[in-house]
Order: sequence, then C-alpha cells, then structure tokens
Amino acid sequence: MVLQDKAVIVTGAATGIGRAIAIKMAEQGANILVSDINSDAAESTAAELREIGVRSAVQVTNVVDPGATEAMAERALQEFGKIDILVNNAGVAGAPGWYERSESTEEDWHFTYKVNVIGSVNSANSVSPHMKEVGYGKILNLASIAGREGRPSLPHYSSSKSAVVNYTQALAGELAPFSINVNAICPGLLWTPMWEQVGGRYAMNDPEYADMEPRAVFEKMIAATIPFGSEQTPEDIGDAAVFLCSDEAKNITGQALDVDGGFFMR
Ligand SMILES: NC(=O)c1ccc[n+]([C@@H]2O[C@H](COP(=O)([O-])OP(=O)(O)OC[C@H]3O[C@@H](n4cnc5c(N)ncnc54)[C@H](O)[C@@H]3O)[C@@H](O)[C@H]2O)c1
Repeated sequence: MVLQDKAVIVTGAATGIGRAIAIKMAEQGANILVSDINSDAAESTAAELREIGVRSAVQVTNVVDPGATEAMAERALQEFGKIDILVNNAGVAGAPGWYERSESTEEDWHFTYKVNVIGSVNSANSVSPHMKEVGYGKILNLASIAGREGRPSLPHYSSSKSAVVNYTQALAGELAPFSINVNAICPGLLWTPMWEQVGGRYAMNDPEYADMEPRAVFEKMIAATIPFGSEQTPEDIGDAAVFLCSDEAKNITGQALDVDGGFFMR
C-alpha cells in the first residue's frame, strides 16, 4: 500500500486513463477526489473507488477555469484535510467536432492548448501553495508520445503535449526547493474514448487507413509502430502513475516517462 491515506486529485478521472489511475491509486490506499466535466461518469468512478474501500468524492471541474480549479483544491482540503498528489490527466485532442475535420482549425489550437496546457497550469497553481506550505507533494502531468516528436497528424495536439513536457521540467525546478516532485508520463497507444475518435480521423485523412473502422486503424498502427506488438492499457499508465507519485520515486523529478511498448527507445 504505497499510497496509504494519501489525498489525491485526479482531473479527467471520469473515463479512460484518468479513471484507471484513480483505481490503481485507490488500490494502494489513496483517497481520491474525482474531478471532471462529465458529472455522471465521474459519479460512477467515485462509486467504484468507494467499493475498493477508500474515500472518494466528485468535484465537477472545468480545468480551463482557474476559479473552478481553486474550488477543486478547496474541496480536496475540505474532504481530506490535505492534498498530497495532483494528477493532471484531463485532456482533449481538439475543439468539439475535431475528429470530423481533416485540418486543424484556429479553434482546435486554442481549445487544445487551453485544456491540455493552461488546464494543467491552473490545477498546479491551485494546489501548489498548499504543497509548498507543508513541504511535500507530487504533481504528475499526462503528456503523450505525440509530444516527443512533431508529426503531421493533429499538430495542435502534439505540440500541446510537447509544451506539457517542457512545463513539467520548468515546474519541477520551481518546486524542488519545497520537496515537491513533478513528473510526466507519455502514454503510447491506448484504446480509450479519445482514441476511438483519433482512429476515425486517420480513416478520413490518411490513405493508408482509408475507410477502416477506428479499431482496425488502431490495430494496424500498433502492428506498424510498437515493438512489443501490443497496445498499452489505462492500467499500465495507472501502475506507472502509482510509482511516480510514491515515495519510492522521491529522487525522480522533472522526468517524462514513455509508457509505449518501445515506440520510442532512447
Ligand atoms: N488514449 C491515448 O492513446 C493517449 C495517449 C497519450 C496521451 N493520452 C492523454 O491521456 C489523458 C487521458 O486521455 P484518455 O485517452 O483517457 O481520454 P478520454 O477522452 O477518454 O478522457 C479524458 C477525460 O478528461 C475529461 N475532460 C476533458 N476536458 C476536460 C476539462 N476541460 N476539464 C475537466 N475534465 C475534462 C473528459 O470528460 C474525460 O473524462 C489525456 O491528457 C490524453 O491526451 C492519451
């Protein structure tokens, strides 16, 4: 139980990777504030966490709104009396309807940067004063392998994730004097609600995947790019998140860990 009694906020915890991170952390004894814009799915994640035997509550939060992230931090303090860990997982691949477009629009750039970059900054700004005061804390940002190297597909998304990696390093330096660890995970290819839409966009734009179903696009891409030949799962990311937010990783900060079946080897 490496996270026994830790107080955790996971943004975007209603579905996909965020939900799996919350479950993995709860299995290690952490109490979790489930933060998301999707209140129904967030409530069902919180109920699952309580089944595991930890405390969990929902705070409906749009991370682009600094007032909402302040309320999120306040709620965690009210529920748990402290904030040990923040996981900045909420993310989008474009503005609403992005997967039906073949090109990135100005709105895609603004919306994606706002959620993926500014949303992480807002949440970190809302929890860091408390962490600094107690001289303890872990902040984990969800970047992506897309942020490791620019590629033509979804440039607004990949460059936003590159910014998340850079921000992770900058924040780690800023918070190191307060014994706060800041790291990132770069997930590879995971079959989540987000990737179902990504697959549709590839089928529309890339002749190599023309007219294929999203799942078939996903599998073809895995066969072509992942040395292990298999997909990564939200649970894989949850396991890495538990380690990076545990005291066993106390001397790891400012790092971005690829969990990608060998997509990138460095
Ligand atoms: N699926 C992948 O293959 C993959 C790969 C690399 C990185 N990632 C990253 O991992 C994270 C989670 O991705 P996922 O695949 O689980 O996506 P998802 O779409 O399945 O889940 C994202 C969650 O974030 C919430 N959310 C969206 N905008 C929000 C906002 N403004 N405020 C609060 N919550 C908001 C959504 O409601 C949803 O519950 C994202 O940051 C994503 O970019 C995913």
